[in-house]
Formats: sequence, C-alpha cells, structure tokens
Amino acid sequence: MDNNFDLIVIGGGPGGYVCAIRAAQLGLKTACVESRGSLGGTCLNVGCIPSKSLLNLSENFHKAKKDFNQQGIEIENIKLNIEKMMTNKNKSIQVLTKGVEFLFKKNKVTYLKGKGVLLSKNDVVVYKDNEKTNYKAKNIVIATGSHVSSLPGIEIDEKNIISSTGALSLNKVPKKLAIIGAGYIGLEMGSVWSRLGSDVTVIEYLDHITPGMDREISKEFEKILIKQGIKFRLNSKVNSVKNDNNTVLIKFTDNKTLKQESITADKVLVSVGRKPYTEGLNLSKIGINKDNKGRINVNKNLQTSVKNIYAIGDVIDGPMLAHKAEEEGIAVAEIVSGQAGHVNYDVIPGVIYTSPEVASVGKTEEQLKSEKIDYKVGKFPFLANSRAKVNNETDGFVKILADSSTDKVLGVHIIGAHCGNMIAEMALAMEFGASAEDIARTCHAHPTHTEAIKEAALAVDKRPIHF
Ligand code: NAI
Repeated sequence: MDNNFDLIVIGGGPGGYVCAIRAAQLGLKTACVESRGSLGGTCLNVGCIPSKSLLNLSENFHKAKKDFNQQGIEIENIKLNIEKMMTNKNKSIQVLTKGVEFLFKKNKVTYLKGKGVLLSKNDVVVYKDNEKTNYKAKNIVIATGSHVSSLPGIEIDEKNIISSTGALSLNKVPKKLAIIGAGYIGLEMGSVWSRLGSDVTVIEYLDHITPGMDREISKEFEKILIKQGIKFRLNSKVNSVKNDNNTVLIKFTDNKTLKQESITADKVLVSVGRKPYTEGLNLSKIGINKDNKGRINVNKNLQTSVKNIYAIGDVIDGPMLAHKAEEEGIAVAEIVSGQAGHVNYDVIPGVIYTSPEVASVGKTEEQLKSEKIDYKVGKFPFLANSRAKVNNETDGFVKILADSSTDKVLGVHIIGAHCGNMIAEMALAMEFGASAEDIARTCHAHPTHTEAIKEAALAVDKRPIHF
C-alpha cells in the first residue's frame, strides 16, 4: 500500500469521519485513523446513539405502563426485559458503525485501525498491537474528541461509580441512582433510569439546572422533571463519593447553609462534563499549542499553530456536540481543497432528548441582556396547540427572541414534544436572516406542533391567534 496521503484524519468520530468523506469527495487521497475498533466515536458507540435508543425505549415502556390504560389501550402485565432492551440498543450501534465503514469504502477513504501519533508535521505513526506503521500526509486533522471528566478524589470504576458509558449498559435497574451534575448527560440518563423504575436524585453545584440554557426554559424544565419524579439537590457541592459495601455514599455541602449532607445510592453517575482528549498525540513536540483548559488553539480556518495541521470538534473550543464537529469537519475538508469552508457558530442548535425535549438555537435572553441588545419576546404554550392537546403533549412552550428594531430572529428556545426536530426550521430561518414576521407569514401545516412556532412569531408582534 502507498503510505502517502493528501489528508490524514486522526479520530473516526462524527467530526473525523465526516471530514474524511468530504475530503475524499473533493478528490483528496484520504485516510482516517481510529483506535476504538469501530468508527463513529463517542457519539455512535457510547454517546448520542445508545442514549437515544434507551431514551426511546424507556419512554415507550413508561407510556405503556402509566398512560395507555387511561387512553383506552388496555395491556396487562407489562414487564421490563433489560437484557433485550440492551441488545436492541447494541444492534442499532453495530448497524450504524458498520454503516460508516461502508461509507468509507464507497468514498475510497482508507481506514487505518490503531492509535495515531504525530511524529512530525507531515508524519503519522499508527500503532496497532505490537506493530507500528509510518504514513505521510500533506495535511493532518486532529479529531480525537473528548473523554469523561471526574471530580478530584472521585474514581470512576464503572461498577457502582459510573460515567455515561456505564450508565448506558447497566444490567439491572438501580433502586436508587444518584447523579452528579444536572447537564445534558445527567438529565438524559436520569430520565432513562427514572422511567425504568429508579429513584433518581440529581446533585447540582449551581442553583439551576442546565447551565447556559435560557433561564425561563431551564426553570420550566426543572418543574416538569420534578413532576416526573426526579429529585434535585441544587446549590450543592459534591465533596466525596465512596463505595460502602454494595452502596455508594455521596457527601456534599449545601452552598447556602454550608451544612454537610450525604445520601446513599446503589449507583452514582458522574456527569460533570467532558475534557478534550489529546493524550499521547505528541502535540507539544510538534509545536501545537493548547489553552489552559487543554483545548487545541485554532484560528478561524481551524488551523493549529502548525499550519498544515487542523483541529476540529471536542478538542477545540465550543459546544461539545456531534453536529458542530461535523460542520467543522466539512469546513476543514473544503479549506484544505482550496474552497471557502466556514462554520456559522451563531446558529448551532442544541437539543436535550428528554420528554419533553428541549431545543434551542441562537442567543438566550440572558446573553442578549449582557450584550445590551434590545429585543422583543414572543411566546406560545403547547397547551394552546391543537395537535399537542390531542396527543396529550401539552407541557412546554416556544419562545422567540427578535431584535427590537430590525425584527431579525436572534434566538429560539423551545421546551415541548418533538422540538428536537422542530428546531431545524428555526436554524434554517436564522441562516437566512429571517425576521419574526417572515416566520409568522410562513404557512405551517395544521394540525402540527410547528404551528406553535408560527404563533410565537406572531406573538413577537403581539398578535397570536390562538392565545
Ligand atoms: P455538562 O457540562 O452539560 O453539565 C455538567 C454539570 O455538572 C453542570 O451543570 C455543572 O454545574 C455540574 N457540576 C460540575 N461540578 C459539580 C460538582 N462538584 N457538584 C455538583 N455538580 C457539579 O456536562 P455533561 O452532562 O457531563 O455532558 C458532557 C458533554 O456532552 C456536554 O458538553 C454536552 O454538550 C454533551 N452531550 C450532549 C448531548 C446532546 O446533545 N443531547 C447529550 C449528552 C452529552
């Protein structure tokens, strides 16, 4: 095999594999190095995909158990078979990761199995078992993603003290599950296990859940989760987590009263964020600079301090989201090919796949205030949306923030059923620089949840029809 490439991508997650495919489409001789044994990175193997499988299955189970009887669908003896549920999840992962391998073959991307290490600015060594192979590349992309962070003194053993990876493959429903951190992972996995029967308590350092989210949405989200049975200990700093026979003892301080408190649980999920994964790449030897949070510094073309080496996804600044990494992957492939690749960081949607879902794009009300931008707000509750009403999905609302003088949409925040899909319309609108009036005058099919978006846009000008 010829070991010279136009582009070598290190890391086969959503950022890396998408970058490799786009580069190959553009005619670059491309290879992608991956050490996990399967493509798709954290997202496909131990992240977005398995969690969505369990979120979907646990929601079906919960609905069948709690709602169906009242809705005239009478089923007796509904039982959970956790082993089958996990097998179903594992099959979805396998199909999708194999699908990426197929796409590599179709696009003639060379898949290099093993751990990639930088030897110089044009040399990559791939280590597999006891062998190493040298490759040369005109350009290199680092897309090695992130890994779980923990708290000082807390060791994740993936038995009783687990990370998201462990929480995706428990073989028994824990009676009591404690979760440290009320972010994306904590709330999604908390929802899964609460629906399957766990008594879930989430301990969060801040006085609110989901930091960074529009505060009004975050408050509504907390209320809905409490109604669903999830308990919160906000304003609480976890100090220690210790295995104690078959249970775990979690000690924390109430930030307001400074009182020391503790709870016990069968399992504790540590979901306090993720950190860039760059260990063993040899970055400092090559002269690639990182910031004080361990993220690789890049310029607006995603170039590192070494010109022909680029970095994308969770190893650089920005939200740790698969679709953000994908956009960066495409941009880099196009930049390397001499095109004008670009990512619009103002329009990166974010979704939490709980029930109801929470989705947002653009600026929050808090950001607009701190940036001293004058804005108008339009809101519409799902309670007044006919489709949501007939489906018994009335929790939540749509909130549109538009510039006071130009009416341009600056941010959209939704909590409600199916809003993870609905937010795409708002991202598109914002990409085209839409005003709230543009959305208000767009015909939305009846009866759909999307009519709540049109109504919220009408509400920006104080003229909603159904509220
Ligand atoms: P996160 O950053 O979303 O939330 C971590 C939470 O832990 C924060 O609320 C923080 O205040 C809290 N915390 C930190 N130290 C604490 C302490 N000592 N005691 C109590 N609370 C403490 O991180 P998370 O949930 O681990 O997710 C990691 C990454 O994965 C995120 O960047 C997220 O974007 C991504 N992700 C995205 C998903 C999606 O798009 N649906 C799903 C899952 C993860």
